[in-house]
Amino acid sequence: MSSLDVPTELQRGGRVGHSDDNLASSLWLLDRIAQLSGRENLAGAAVLDMGCGNKFTQTILRENIAIGSYTGIDVYRDLIEYLQSSVDDPRLEYQHVDIHNAMYNTEGKPLSELTGLNVPDAHFDIVCLFSVFTHLAPHDYPAMLKLLRPYIKPMVYWYSACSSMKWRPMARGILRAFTIS
Ligand SMILES: C[S@@+](CC[C@H](N)C(=O)[O-])C[C@H]1O[C@@H](n2cnc3c(N)ncnc32)[C@H](O)[C@@H]1O
Repeated sequence: MSSLDVPTELQRGGRVGHSDDNLASSLWLLDRIAQLSGRENLAGAAVLDMGCGNKFTQTILRENIAIGSYTGIDVYRDLIEYLQSSVDDPRLEYQHVDIHNAMYNTEGKPLSELTGLNVPDAHFDIVCLFSVFTHLAPHDYPAMLKLLRPYIKPMVYWYSACSSMKWRPMARGILRAFTIS
């Protein structure tokens, strides 16, 4: 177990300063994304976390979560630089993107102008964004999905999920979103 104490002023997301709550919610979410992608755990999964903040990193390190790789991307430059210099785990890497956000990065470029990310095509098993769409301008929703689309492997899981009546409307919405070209 190795812990990372992110300075309070750099923390984003979750309940800033409430590390126990953030740990519990991260553990639940990491388990949930594993289950939703048809896995017992995240060992072997390449995860892209867009708008990563700090809490998944702290949980993966502290609880020694099995994960193939974790790429955290965020518009918050100071946090990304802190994580890049403080996290010494070959499975975890971080990148800053200079995208405009009315709350978090007012000087950034419009999302629609970003032509790509510095990550390999069709590489990720799971792309997650927690508490990120809620902070985007509505016109940035499709731009964000279009930006991320090239980097995810074919989503076999969503097709199988369509066989369940309960998940069908949600799966259809996600499939539509991810086929925006
Ligand atoms: C409410 S926090 C959530 C952080 C983390 N996902 C979590 O659940 O703890 C929102 C995060 O999204 C980042 N963010 C906002 N707009 C973004 C964008 N267009 N691209 C990438 N990150 C963005 C912010 O800097 C912030 O770290």
